[in-house]
Amino acid sequence: MQNPVLDLWRLDETPGAGDAIELLGQLALERALRYANPADRNEFVAGRVALLDFAAALLEVDPARLVPDYHCPRCGPGQDHGRPGFMLDGGPAPLALSASRASGWVLLAGVVHPPEELRLGVDLESTGKATFEGFDDVAPTATEKRFLSTIPDQERDSQRARLWARKEAWLKMTGEGLRRNPAELDVLDLPGLRDVTGIHENGKLPDGLVAALALG
Ligand SMILES: CC(C)(COP(=O)(O)OP(=O)(O)OC[C@H]1O[C@@H](n2cnc3c(N)ncnc32)[C@H](O)[C@@H]1OP(=O)(O)O)[C@@H](O)C(=O)NCCC(=O)NCCS
Repeated sequence: MQNPVLDLWRLDETPGAGDAIELLGQLALERALRYANPADRNEFVAGRVALLDFAAALLEVDPARLVPDYHCPRCGPGQDHGRPGFMLDGGPAPLALSASRASGWVLLAGVVHPPEELRLGVDLESTGKATFEGFDDVAPTATEKRFLSTIPDQERDSQRARLWARKEAWLKMTGEGLRRNPAELDVLDLPGLRDVTGIHENGKLPDGLVAALALG
């Protein structure tokens, strides 16, 4: 199976955010305006611009030829949320895409000319954020709890974040998101699901971040 292209961008360094913003479309701009916190709004916009530029680079087309077309399994096509996609010159762009934002970074994944029905999910997590009080009561399955109990104390938080990234990557691949109870999804050993430890050749993830990729 084709390996996805992965990229990791800093949200405060997204190129061309000022110029590209109108290419995001009315639905995204309306969603941006609903963010109460300006920092969250800026990160949402920068993440969308990064994905647009990433998709255009993969297809080797001008970003202005791409029109965002997000599909939510519950609400249908043409949404401001859901699985990312683009129209190119009036037809679906030949791409499978996924994106995730965390701690000022956006992780992007794409497959060009994907086989029919190929689905992709990535998730990026800050090791601090996935390890809130009570995490073990709501997130891991019984098997995963047993796994966490075998992990040395100092590594347990990063393993919790790793499990959470794997759950979200899988649930983005299936399209269900957190509508499905993550505590009923065992992610230690699922075909097509793996940790992402580096992005470019020899490039490690920044400290404090973990990521996962699901492909199927
Ligand atoms: C998918 C989900 C787990 C991601 O949440 P998160 O950790 O807060 O955010 P991340 O930054 O990692 O990922 C967000 C990206 O995931 C992608 N995404 C969102 N929903 C998706 C879905 N159902 N399938 C695949 N990808 C999805 C989008 O690219 C989104 O980017 P955007 O914020 O620019 O729209 C979460 O949004 C979710 O559970 N969604 C389903 C429930 C839902 O959306 N309900 C409301 C409408 S019915």
